[in-house]
Amino acid sequence: MNAILGEVKALQASGVPLASLMRGEPDFPTPAHIVEASIKALEAGRTGYPDNRGEKALREAVALKLRRDNGLTYDPGTEILVTTGATFGIYAALMALINEGDQVLLPDPVYDAYQSPVRLAGGECRAVTSAIHEGRFMVTEEALEAAWTPAAKLLVLNTPWNPVGTVPTRSELEGIARFCERRNVYLISDEIYEAITYDGHTHLSPVAVAPSLRDRTIVVNSLSKTYSMTGWRVGYCAGPAPLISAMYLVLAQSSRGPATFIQDAAAVALSASQDCVTEMVNEYSRRRAQVQQALAGLPDAAVLPPEGGFFAMADLRAWGIASNEVRKRLLNEYGVVVVHGGAYGPAGEGTLRISFASGGEAFTKGLERLAQGLREMGTARG
Ligand SMILES: Cc1ncc(COP(=O)(O)O)c(C=O)c1O
Repeated sequence: MNAILGEVKALQASGVPLASLMRGEPDFPTPAHIVEASIKALEAGRTGYPDNRGEKALREAVALKLRRDNGLTYDPGTEILVTTGATFGIYAALMALINEGDQVLLPDPVYDAYQSPVRLAGGECRAVTSAIHEGRFMVTEEALEAAWTPAAKLLVLNTPWNPVGTVPTRSELEGIARFCERRNVYLISDEIYEAITYDGHTHLSPVAVAPSLRDRTIVVNSLSKTYSMTGWRVGYCAGPAPLISAMYLVLAQSSRGPATFIQDAAAVALSASQDCVTEMVNEYSRRRAQVQQALAGLPDAAVLPPEGGFFAMADLRAWGIASNEVRKRLLNEYGVVVVHGGAYGPAGEGTLRISFASGGEAFTKGLERLAQGLREMGTARG
């Protein structure tokens, strides 16, 4: 990813105008009632150290939200931890669970920020190969078994799945749960895109599907994507008390949680009307349709319709050209930035990730350039 950003910066420095379909950052302002809640909290002097587990009101709001949206019951006193974004939740969970030499199973293609904290915690990453079947990437129980070794301690699942846009179904999650139980594997369930789903696909939390997973699962979530609050750095985890306590020790020796007034605003975000979320998801849905429309009818290539999140994968595997080569040509010859699927692991080879997290003119221009580039490259292939 840094290599791509380096290429982008060099081109921009030489004056080449680029349109980016790369970033995973929503372009909406944070909804006004959430901003107002933080200002009110600041004015009320909510500027002291927070409770390191998370402010009580926020932990209670999280518990209510988990029950309301996910059908999950967690005790705000002992089973919930407030974190500086999902990033810290994942880090704390890995630090709490992983010992030197433990293996961590990561579905491939993988969100590229999972691997470094695994290594930092002393773990070893092991890819679980996914395949595209009927227009969607998925990992099967067999693929999990093929990746498993006696050193495998933990599986990190991201549902809805960045980068590929799959929302695992109930029966797929049941298969994953069976695997975790059979092989005594812990689960980190990163559900940060839970609110953003399309076409009747709905997010299910693995623990709600298979309650027996509860003792071995840490649910990780954040307000970053759902409420367009990426810069606020606030998220939360839920899990069994002993695991949450171990994560709390990690947190207490490092970040000590988000600012108090930010936690107050987060509690308002989770508890107030969720209409702002619906409006943002409706807009993502329009952009998703725009991507599909712009890239319809490509020669020997197609967009896999995303079921959730704000990324679409273009499947160019039939071209037999390395995805990084296609990406570079799109950047250098057409001035559009996307990420090659190979950057997320071998299973992503032959695809491109197109972000529709940001809309507007740059998005429309980016799609035009992408469509032109892919049409011309596809047609010229020999
Ligand atoms: C799958 C996934 N998990 C976690 C994060 C990080 O989230 P946060 O901003 O809450 O740290 C991202 C951000 O792109 C993501 O895509």
